Amino acid sequence: MWKELGKFGMGPPSGGGGQQPGRGGQRSPLGRNPVLWIVVIGAILIYTQMDGSGSLFGPVDQGHVSRMAVAPDQITGDFSLVDHTGTPRSDEDFHGAHSLIYFGFTWCPDVCPSAMLVMVQVIEDLKLQDRAVQPIFITVDPQRDTVEKLANYVAQLPGLIGLTGSEEQVAQALQSFGITWRSQAAGPTDTNYLVDHTALFYLMGPEGAFIQHYVPTQGPTQIALEIEREFTG
Ligand code: NI
Repeated sequence: MWKELGKFGMGPPSGGGGQQPGRGGQRSPLGRNPVLWIVVIGAILIYTQMDGSGSLFGPVDQGHVSRMAVAPDQITGDFSLVDHTGTPRSDEDFHGAHSLIYFGFTWCPDVCPSAMLVMVQVIEDLKLQDRAVQPIFITVDPQRDTVEKLANYVAQLPGLIGLTGSEEQVAQALQSFGITWRSQAAGPTDTNYLVDHTALFYLMGPEGAFIQHYVPTQGPTQIALEIEREFTG
């Protein structure tokens, strides 16, 4: 699957940020030189604190929240949006099959692309088990994520549907899933900004009910396994 990686413009996911110093009994080539260790540890600290905004000082996953802000029974999952072909779509259009929804923005430099790679693999794993799950990407950034921008983005994942809409439509949709988001745009003319947002996969059932959420860092194998369990009961 690694040949898929280039498509989202990134390398393999680092598995949670940064290399850890090797352990396990083998003598490190660094030996006991304390200066070298300070340099290496400093480099690791800087690397693991890069958060995509270029800041060295935020927490690793600053801007991406991996816990739900609402209770599961508050998630209605209603939306009325526009897909990446410009066709109006509501949640009811997706009833009849399971769907896996991720909320993000196409300009996201790191966490969203990694999550989409996980999604690719989850959908592929489930397909091997004959489980059809519709992957959906709902933008948290309707200002920049136009229909055209989404069309480019979803072309990376076969079958992926991208959804955007007016600010009001997107806000309504995100609220119905209990997603939190906050644009860091400095003003209406700012086009180079990040959007803080909930970064989770939501599994929705064939009747449109919320079933379970997954954190992208669980990895594709674990997530596919858990979704498979929902099918087998
Ligand atoms: Ni993101």
